[in-house]
Amino acid sequence: MQINNSYYFDHQASCPLDCRVFDEMRRFMVNSVGNAHSNEHAFGWGAEKAVTDAKANIAEIVGCDPDEIFFTSGATEANNLALKGYDYGTRKRLIHSDIEHKCIIETGRYLHKKEGLAIETIGVDDSGNINLDELAESADESVSIFSFIGVHNEVGTIQNFQKIADICRQHDIKIHADMAQAPLAISLPSIISQVDTLSLSAHKYYGPMGIGCLYIRRDIQHLYSPIIHGGGQQDGMRSGTTPVPLVVGMGEASKIIAETEMVISTLRDKNQLLWEELKTLGSSVVLNGPDILDRHPANLNVSFLGFDSADIIAVVQPKLAISSGSACTTGYPEPSHVLQNMGLSNDRISSAIRISLGRQTSEDDIHSAVQILRHALERLPKAA
Ligand SMILES: Cc1ncc(COP(=O)(O)O)c(C=O)c1O
Repeated sequence: MQINNSYYFDHQASCPLDCRVFDEMRRFMVNSVGNAHSNEHAFGWGAEKAVTDAKANIAEIVGCDPDEIFFTSGATEANNLALKGYDYGTRKRLIHSDIEHKCIIETGRYLHKKEGLAIETIGVDDSGNINLDELAESADESVSIFSFIGVHNEVGTIQNFQKIADICRQHDIKIHADMAQAPLAISLPSIISQVDTLSLSAHKYYGPMGIGCLYIRRDIQHLYSPIIHGGGQQDGMRSGTTPVPLVVGMGEASKIIAETEMVISTLRDKNQLLWEELKTLGSSVVLNGPDILDRHPANLNVSFLGFDSADIIAVVQPKLAISSGSACTTGYPEPSHVLQNMGLSNDRISSAIRISLGRQTSEDDIHSAVQILRHALERLPKAA
């Protein structure tokens, strides 16, 4: 996908807003007024209907009922609600994987400080798969929640939901999955019975920024309290006026990706082509994370051994948008905790780049992106 002579290969940071999504949102931004919580007049009823319809579309891709969806400002807030909103009772241990997004790690740190919870982490192998033996050893009746990133934002690993559920269910441990990257990668209904809560973010699947949701299975909703208080909207779980155009956008984006299988296979074909072309850059190009067929269909994490990722990313500007990992952590100079915890060598970590394509990425875009990288590598000095 080319915008102003620049190729965009950072879809896992954010996907562009789909025009069809924008058209639907625009209708509610320009032509409609009304607060979905105003139940005394037709404008309010119209807004409420739009929210109800959107929620039905989201519930459809999740494989749940609409009253199990709670809107939030994005996956960061949804993850916060899943962990901070839970009633821990006497179970004071919270476990998460070693390769979580910062919003889970920092929420865990907060809960340790404020609530005295013991936060423990479970290691992963060199492809980012959760160590299930370690999880089984740690799991017992003192653990409240196991939180894990179901589809990885940096390395594309898709976890084994069934095996994780088998372990956690034996001890009635609640399972929270950060699924922000999942809608373009797997069918959510196929894993919904293996989790208790899951978070989504619309801008990761061509919807608008600033809207996401938390799924909470109906029979455990009584164990959750709001973390944002106010007018008691959304059954009291998340106060604040529901942002109708954003919700409508998330609903439309969900409707569009309802044919997940087709989206996945198209992305995977393009990703395979991209990887084949990257390999022509030389033997110093290595793939981090799972095999190409087992990972998020639009994710590549590639090390250019002997080079520094920051130099490569800088030298391809403004022609090519690629990243060194999670957009949310790129302000930090430290190396990726994800690649470190996967046990990769320093050389591999310091030269790693995430390249994520999208629905509109064409074969020509792929050829051009690889050419830009080829020229960059020819110009750059090798790292000391
Ligand atoms: C796996 C994962 N979780 C959570 C988030 C945060 O999502 P949001 O931007 O909706 O707050 C992201 C965004 O990068 C992500 O990739």
